Amino acid sequence: MFFDILTLFPGMFEGAFADSIIKRAQERKLVTIEIHNIRDYSGDKRHGTVDDYPYGGDAGMLLKPAPLAAAIKAGKERLSSLNPKVIFLTPQGELLRQPVVESLLSEQALIILCGRYKGIDQRIRERYIDREISIGDYVLSGGEVPAMVLVDAVTRLIPGVLNDRESAEADSLYNGLLSYPQYTRPEEFEGNRVPEILLSGHHVNIKAWKEEQALANTRARRPDLWKEYEERINDKIRNSKS
Ligand code: ADE
Repeated sequence: MFFDILTLFPGMFEGAFADSIIKRAQERKLVTIEIHNIRDYSGDKRHGTVDDYPYGGDAGMLLKPAPLAAAIKAGKERLSSLNPKVIFLTPQGELLRQPVVESLLSEQALIILCGRYKGIDQRIRERYIDREISIGDYVLSGGEVPAMVLVDAVTRLIPGVLNDRESAEADSLYNGLLSYPQYTRPEEFEGNRVPEILLSGHHVNIKAWKEEQALANTRARRPDLWKEYEERINDKIRNSKS
């Protein structure tokens, strides 16, 4: 998978992808991440201006359409054989939930546009953006941190990125549920013991315990996910009857 990130602050990405799982994924050539500075497409060699006042007298500045269009077009050319999708990170986008992450896995290349200031010219959204994504209902200073979140969430699902011990199957939300509680050594810590069942070596019972705990956890903490889970189960029952 190719990630082409368009940003006004390339320096923010230094370090973000230089360690751990994303670093290894790049070394294994499972992902390629390129960071491009939108200012390089400003067409204004002296000042590199990329923002301007909004029509209509609102406060704040907007990213001008021309540099964004040029940066996106250049990305599309770089990745022309991979049919890249253009993603704009904005609090107005669809919420980045695990199924959205999974839906991006089928793409070969993503051009990720990070906004800044008060936003971008609407004509860019209409003409150049395939998908708008938000990482949550709060406002960040720009799309850079959301871009890091998106790249991380997608990369760890690419086959071959995680090894067996890190497998995504035990992750919270992997199947729409929260994870079960997990323990490591010692068997007793500050007077609290690891649940006996995990020490029993009985794999069938352990699996059943984990499932039970995941369900109970989800029901108690995330009624929204629980409701979706119940709906999925009911659909399955209905389909198996018809
Ligand atoms: N830009 C600013 N806030 C954001 C958010 N919550 N999600 C995506 N992009 C953003």
